[in-house]
Amino acid sequence: MPHPMDISRREFLAGSAAMGAAAALGLTACSAQGTSEAAATSAATQSGQSVRDMIYGIDEKVTLADGSQRAAVCFDNAATTPAFKAVKDEVDTELLSYGSIGRGAGQKSTHCNDVYTNGRQTILDFLGADSDKYTAIYTANTTDGLNKLARSLVTSKDQVVISTRMEHHANDLPWRDVATMLYADVDAQGRLKMDDIEALLAANEGKVRLVTVTAASNVTGYFNDIHAIAKLAHAHGAMIVVDGAQAVAHRSLSMRGDSEDADIDFIAFSAHKMYAPYGGGAIVGLTSVLNTAAPPVLGGGIVDLVTENDAVFLPAPARFEAGSPNYPGVVSMLKAMGIIQGIGFDYIENHEHELLQRTLDGLRQIDGATLYGDCDDIDDRGGIVVFNIDGHWCTDVAKTLADEAGIAVRAGMFCSHVYSSRLLGVSDAEIEANKSNASYRFPNMVRASIGIYNTADEVDTLVDEVARIAADTASATTV
Ligand code: ALA
Repeated sequence: MPHPMDISRREFLAGSAAMGAAAALGLTACSAQGTSEAAATSAATQSGQSVRDMIYGIDEKVTLADGSQRAAVCFDNAATTPAFKAVKDEVDTELLSYGSIGRGAGQKSTHCNDVYTNGRQTILDFLGADSDKYTAIYTANTTDGLNKLARSLVTSKDQVVISTRMEHHANDLPWRDVATMLYADVDAQGRLKMDDIEALLAANEGKVRLVTVTAASNVTGYFNDIHAIAKLAHAHGAMIVVDGAQAVAHRSLSMRGDSEDADIDFIAFSAHKMYAPYGGGAIVGLTSVLNTAAPPVLGGGIVDLVTENDAVFLPAPARFEAGSPNYPGVVSMLKAMGIIQGIGFDYIENHEHELLQRTLDGLRQIDGATLYGDCDDIDDRGGIVVFNIDGHWCTDVAKTLADEAGIAVRAGMFCSHVYSSRLLGVSDAEIEANKSNASYRFPNMVRASIGIYNTADEVDTLVDEVARIAADTASATTV
């Protein structure tokens, strides 16, 4: 059944009466598909089907600088992942039945509305979230979700938000705009200082609205103990928001902690990092708070009634979903969740950990390679490696890897300037002194990030190519 508040009472009176129409089209809703998808994927992987075979475009060739062609090697999965084949197929199939959601009474509209509405349960199940406590809201991506939460959860600039120096800009800038910010710092290895969070909470008793923290860093891949942070926040009367962008496709994540005070209050994440690149994403959060929070974006779909001078807003989730929904984004995300569950997080975590270890081991052998973050104790790291090569500017390294070997990595500060600066040992004073100097090269890094479909051979190719670049003193520049 749809969430009763998914549909404006006044705009879609036919909604509940027409809920049987999807069956008339011979179509099933995605929450059911999610469950059967997980079982089917699990059976396929157990019978030896390679996860690699599930990826669309895996054998697609790219053209190198010398004009030759080679199958692309993608180590840029922290930025975005390729699509699952089944995700693309699902979107193609669903487009045959595409109709307006929550706004029409035709069979196709009703089918899409069923998929859209039932899909919320798929998302809650994916995150171990109890539907009595949490609501799933569709968004465009993590940035969209975090901006919406910032606008809705903070009601005065006097309220304190504690963030960290590990965050992506998406989990820092939106909060700066609406709240008084305090930051927990990171240690010399780049790990979050839990003591800082506790000290900031204690020193600002009664003023902290929420703590917002990434579940996993997009630069070092460190996973934070979000349930321990939830306990700290709750003990001081604050809520917790989690940026799940780099976590949800890599480790099993649950809103539920080992006790209620360890439960996560809100999480935001993107589907394009879950092998579903159609512009989907979601927030999962406390229904009791979301139902009365200020709508972050205004427009159609979020109101029960608008008069000449007034608007009556619907509760969550509709309250957070102004405008026509992105149906392919939703369909693809739901499908991907089922596939990921079918592959299983044990497999995913082990596979990515093995490749991380292999990448670190290989790169550390290279003369002139500097790796950032803790490369010895890596149990709390996901599949992300950041490094530099002496004498070779990181952007040149990334370009050479692409031009000469078809390997995709990212170079820069990864939308995490503050954290990257700390890892690189660049002082605030240096940054301040140079921030208006267009010719100053802020120190950056090369990032290789691993997905479920990458192979040991691909890691070896990456390491060999980096070693070749490092040994090529002729192309070295002054960094
Ligand atoms: N946040 C993405 C990255 O780290 C885009 O590359």
